[in-house]
Amino acid sequence: MSADAQKKAVAEAALHYVPPDEILGVGTGSTVNHFIRALASMRDRIPGAVSSSEASSSLLEEVGIPVVSLNEVHELSVYVDGADEANRHLQLIKGGGAALTREKIVAAASRRFVCIADESKLVGALGGFPLPVEVIPMARSYVARQLSRLGGRPVYRQGVVTDNGNVILDVHDLEINEPIRLEQAINNIAGVVCNGLFAMRPADVLLLGSPGGVQTLER
Ligand code: 5RP
Repeated sequence: MSADAQKKAVAEAALHYVPPDEILGVGTGSTVNHFIRALASMRDRIPGAVSSSEASSSLLEEVGIPVVSLNEVHELSVYVDGADEANRHLQLIKGGGAALTREKIVAAASRRFVCIADESKLVGALGGFPLPVEVIPMARSYVARQLSRLGGRPVYRQGVVTDNGNVILDVHDLEINEPIRLEQAINNIAGVVCNGLFAMRPADVLLLGSPGGVQTLER
């Protein structure tokens, strides 16, 4: 089964976690795009969605699901999103699609985070995928120097501006032995808006595609 077929299978499995008649949190990426298209089959039971990116908002509107501002809702029951890497503790690296900041906000505002991914995303230790860091443009060089001091090799993602008007540094070669400490350390660098480690707020459920079907991992 191809990675894309696995993404489609986990996206369809995630429908089971969608609470009817409630506003839903929706992430970003190719796996989530499958999820949004699958969600269209139950759009009559979905009053709206809080979206983590302009790209997901467009697709939600295209399939007839109204997009709602996070400021209009108190708390979300469920957030569904993909990941670039996941470990067995359901800690994640996210931000391959540059939507990490809004993703982290919507995840924080949700009681249950359901992560959907193909099996290639499950790793023993996080860090093979370069860690995305969203940075205020004027702080790019300063933040890059500080990330080097943490042992990483930051690479400017040329030509990418986030939905928040910022830039992305992708940090290669990080040894992520303590994801929570590293997430906090990077957050403490002046000029960093957000980093793609989701360790303080990991996923609650990971639906993982595999050739044999969808596996469910829970914390
Ligand atoms: C976007 C993300 C995505 O969830 C992540 O990149 C996974 O993408 P895909 O589902 O296309 O593999 O964090 O910022």
